This record gives sequence, C-alpha cells and structure tokens, in this order.
Amino acid sequence: MVSTPNVPERVDKTDALPPNIPKHVAIIMDGNGRWAKARGLPRSEGHRQGTENLRRILRACVEFGVEILTIYAFSTENWKRPPTEVRVLLRILQRVIDTELDELDEEGVQLRHIGKLDGLSPFLQQKIIHARERTKNNDRLIVNVAFNYGGRAEIVDAVQRIVKDRVAPEDIDEDLISHYLYTADLPDPDLIIRTSGELRISNFLTWQGSYSEYYFTNTFWPDFDKEELRKALFEYSNRKRRYGMTDEQIE
Ligand code: IPE
Ligand code: IPE
Ligand code: MG
Repeated sequence: MVSTPNVPERVDKTDALPPNIPKHVAIIMDGNGRWAKARGLPRSEGHRQGTENLRRILRACVEFGVEILTIYAFSTENWKRPPTEVRVLLRILQRVIDTELDELDEEGVQLRHIGKLDGLSPFLQQKIIHARERTKNNDRLIVNVAFNYGGRAEIVDAVQRIVKDRVAPEDIDEDLISHYLYTADLPDPDLIIRTSGELRISNFLTWQGSYSEYYFTNTFWPDFDKEELRKALFEYSNRKRRYGMTDEQIE
C-alpha cells in the first residue's frame, strides 16, 4: 500500500476573515496632511490619495460583508482650516459625486449624508441630494458620508426638532433621541477606526459611539489598506462586548 504523504490543506491566510464581522464600521480618515508632508508633497495631494484609498476600502467593505460604512470626511471644526484647504476638501466631495456616482450606483452602494447641509453651497447641496435620491434603493453597502458633521451639532439639531415637534417630556427617551439624529434608522456603529495615531474622537458620532469598539492605528489614512482593515476586523472579533454585564452573562 502506498501511503500518501499528509499534505496539509492549503490555507491562504491573507484571504481569511474573522468569524464576527461588524455590521456597521465607522472610520475617522485622519492623517492625509502628515502623509503628504512626509513625502514633501502639498496637503492637497494627501487628500487626493486619501480619496483614492477610500475607493479601495469601499470595495474591501463589500468583500468583507460590512453592511454600513460611515466615513468622517469633513467636520464642523474643519471650517477653521485655511480657506484654500477648505476649498480643496469641498471640491473633492463635488468631484467624487461627479465622477464616481455611476459606478457606485452600479455596485449597489447606497449613498447617504450625515451632517448639516446648511452651510454648503446650494450647488453642492443639490449634488448631495441627487446622489442620495439616485442610490436610495441600493442595498449592497450603505455609505454614510459625514460631511459638515459634528456630533454635538447633531444633538443640538435633534433637541431643536424635538422641541419644535412639541414632544411631551415624559415621551423623551433614548430611542426617541436616536430617532431624531441624522442616523435615525441605522444601528449604532459596532467598530470605530481612527487612523494616524490620534487618540480622540474629534466630535464624531458622540451619541452613537457610546458603546462602539474603538480601534486606533498609527497608519496614515492614504496607507490604510485592505489588509489593515482585515487586521482591525480580526481585533474587533476578539473583543468582548459586555454592555455593562458580566462575562458569565454574555457567554
Ligand atoms: C484627514 O486628514 C482629512 C480631514 C480632516 C479632512 P488631515 O487633513 O486631518 O491630516 P493631518 O491630520 O493634518 O495629517
Ligand atoms: C477629524 O480629523 C475630522 C476628519 C477626519 C474629517 P481632524 O484632523 O480634523 O481632527 P483634529 O482636529 O486633529 O482633532
Ligand atoms: Mg487630522
């Protein structure tokens, strides 16, 4: 009898995925400026490369089975940057909608916006509304673009609308407040990633992130590739989410 050598089944480690994929991933895409500076390039080039990277990460999210991706693209505080840089960032959003909308639509991406439309030019507002309308029936991946977004401003907006709607004080609870936020019908993010080594949330998803898992990496956003995302998902999968309970209760 000829014995066959015991050949181990080939496991392609790079294609492996953790058992527990977060449904909703949010990313603070930080470090474009430092990425550019390290290469002697203008900050605008960092933003350009960061935008390129977003295309790759969108695809990776679809491949990995993430259902909702929320990306922090421009905060209410980013208006304090030099006007030339603000213009670059506004133009990038406009250009992404102009050049990527067809493809994103074909790929089944549903585009949404969270943040204040007020404060953006009527022209850009129209583009954002058009992108949302055009893709609203897509269901492969929901991409929530946080642009002119601030977590505190979102809560102020919610409170103003609750008062305008004359909601009785005894009817105000956590669910009601959640429904008045920009993310009304979406589940809270399971995992919030911040690139570039900063250990803060910078006014991102203040309410929604109160029980999210956080993942920080020193990698600058333009270099945060599919493999880095995979690493973050593996780490998430190893976390224990207790929501105030004990280990015994959650097991
Ligand atoms: C993130 O990169 C993009 C935005 C905030 C719009 P930065 O522009 O903040 O890059 P750094 O933090 O200066 O390196
Ligand atoms: C947070 O990054 C906002 C975005 C990524 C859009 P910032 O670079 O603006 O944050 P701070 O100012 O360092 O906290
Ligand atoms: Mg930054």
